[in-house]
Amino acid sequence: MNIGIVTAGGDSPGLNAAIRGIGKAAIRSHGMSVIGSRDGFRGLMQNRHVRLDSEDLSGILTAGGTILGTSRDKPNRMEVGGRELDMTDIMLDTYEQHHLDALVALGGGGTQKNALHLAKAGMRVVTLPKTIDNDVAGTDVSFGFDTAMNIATEAIDRLHSTAHSHHRIIVVEVMGHKAGWLALGAGIAGGADVILIPEIPYDTEAVAESILARQASGSRFSIVAVSEGAMSIESAAEMGRLKEIRKQSESDAERDAANEDLDELNTERSGATHLLSRQLEERTRLESRVTILGHVQRGGIPSPGDRLLATRLGTATAHLVAEGKHTIMVASRGEQAVAVPLEEVAGHRRTVPLDHPWINAARSLGVSLGD
Ligand code: F6P
Repeated sequence: MNIGIVTAGGDSPGLNAAIRGIGKAAIRSHGMSVIGSRDGFRGLMQNRHVRLDSEDLSGILTAGGTILGTSRDKPNRMEVGGRELDMTDIMLDTYEQHHLDALVALGGGGTQKNALHLAKAGMRVVTLPKTIDNDVAGTDVSFGFDTAMNIATEAIDRLHSTAHSHHRIIVVEVMGHKAGWLALGAGIAGGADVILIPEIPYDTEAVAESILARQASGSRFSIVAVSEGAMSIESAAEMGRLKEIRKQSESDAERDAANEDLDELNTERSGATHLLSRQLEERTRLESRVTILGHVQRGGIPSPGDRLLATRLGTATAHLVAEGKHTIMVASRGEQAVAVPLEEVAGHRRTVPLDHPWINAARSLGVSLGD
């Protein structure tokens, strides 16, 4: 059998461990040939491939990023020569030209959707869940998350001492897209005093009050861990209103106008963490500083937990492909790797349930979640 591997979407620690796991198990246990597409779906479209033999898969377990390169290209809306084109058929030709029996796509929510699209076009596709955001549906956890949570937690640990020395508020922005897993996990593990996540719109006044209450009880500093997708109650209401207008729009013009308003709101929101810091300073009369962790959370060597998860899911993928399974995502459920139909994954986002044990633990500690 021949299999192709593609890494797509934002990179994430553990991708190379997964490529190694899939490739080694495919070659050793099933005598398969393995190739990798360069730079995400664009490489599949441009037929830029690399052969992955056993020696190519050695020494990559601990490497960050992806040896294949990645991109956020979508098969059906790929920018080519300044235009957005549907390149699905060209990709299908490449798939057939290499006599692939399966394409294994490693990615987050967007990649799961793109993979389903390719499956519907006729490819035998298997996916793995990879993202620091941990928001892929159908799996307990995605690889990349554990490493990013370690990095964000270490940053919060370090911010504690400087916040303490200067009696300041430090607002630390954590990635996570539209899910709060990373901010919540790192916030709890790092002992943040306030944790703001997209699932719970925050009341700036309530956040300020919780900081003042800490001050009154003798704690003269506060760490506020804010997820990049967290929204104030006001922004969340405006976002909901604009989305409803878009949903109800009856003409292209109305839809375009709603999209423009949404874009404007998103641009405004890109400064939300700095705005929150200024508002907290005004309301509490305490000095506040902002730290945006950004892409540092996606870089560097994967944690042992991510290496193990990626290896577990990667090797299971090779066995499932050998059994002829496709149009599935190989998910982690407890200690098991299970095949979940791609239709149950694509287009769904796994956000933090409001009754999740992490939320309950944070509340029990007296951490403000901004509500
Ligand atoms: O999905 C992973 C992620 O790091 C998100 O947390 C973040 O919103 C986004 O990717 C950043 O994307 P890019 O690397 O394209 O700027």
